[in-house]
Amino acid sequence: MLMASALFSLYFVLLAISSTSTAMPGNFNREVDITWGNGRGKILNAGQLITLSLDKSSGSGFQSKNQYIYGRFDVQLKLIPGNSAGTVTTFYLSSQGQMHDEIDLEFLGNLSGDPYTLHTNVFTQGRGNREEQFKLWFDPTMDFHTYSILWNPKHIVFYVDGTPIREFKNMEAKGVAYPKRQAIRVYASLWAAEDWATRGGMVKADWSQAPFAAAFKGYEANGCVWPAAGGGATACSARGSSWMWQEFDATSLRRMRWVQRNYMIYNYCTDAKRFPQGMPPECSATP
Ligand SMILES: *[C@@H]1O[C@H](CO)[C@@H](O)[C@H](O)[C@H]1NC(C)=O
Repeated sequence: MLMASALFSLYFVLLAISSTSTAMPGNFNREVDITWGNGRGKILNAGQLITLSLDKSSGSGFQSKNQYIYGRFDVQLKLIPGNSAGTVTTFYLSSQGQMHDEIDLEFLGNLSGDPYTLHTNVFTQGRGNREEQFKLWFDPTMDFHTYSILWNPKHIVFYVDGTPIREFKNMEAKGVAYPKRQAIRVYASLWAAEDWATRGGMVKADWSQAPFAAAFKGYEANGCVWPAAGGGATACSARGSSWMWQEFDATSLRRMRWVQRNYMIYNYCTDAKRFPQGMPPECSATP
């Protein structure tokens, strides 16, 4: 009996140790692989910096070595300066396959002097169509800013410099699928989407400005690594990580509403003409 409980405590000590080790600031060499772009993506400064570049023949991208179920994922990103029309820089989570889950942050480029659009979406079991778009309250090409995705059993939250801009609640009780069974990887990319990115595709990329480049640093993946070391989702959620059971307090809600009032430029939940058969069920619960 004593033996069993000692082993049980040891098990949790080990879990705690393994979860703190994933909470250290990430080194790109250890955490990710550059997966495409034929040399256009580069890991620099001993793993502290990644630059992705894009020219007329290809973009580039990287993905996490680990897969995760739940976590908080942060990156600092400095976007393409000047004329970035027709380009898309992304930081997102995605599982594999047709019924995949995906949580997207995408930065849609623009002409010099015109603002970037931050485009967000949530796919659950293959179904997306949940776009919300924002302007930013700073020029994202001047400096690095932190963009984060939190995904836990209660909600998904998108953050800009620590300020929540969007929440997707777990509304399984209302029949809305929620990502919880499929392991994801973290992805980032820079690519051309001239047919839709800028002013709905009206403004194309100016390839005389190529190559375009975006820079990433300060990557932190605090997640439940999958498959879990102790076995199964229960062991993974037993880890006492602050992100795992985080919910909004009044301050977070107030800050998110402030951003949404002042900087939201598109919300699918208010776009009735897109959903003639009726609004998606989660919309009635969106604050
Ligand atoms: C680009 O700038 C124009 C003009 O300010 C704006 O209407 C548009 O939403 C901006 N963003 C994109 C991605 O087109």
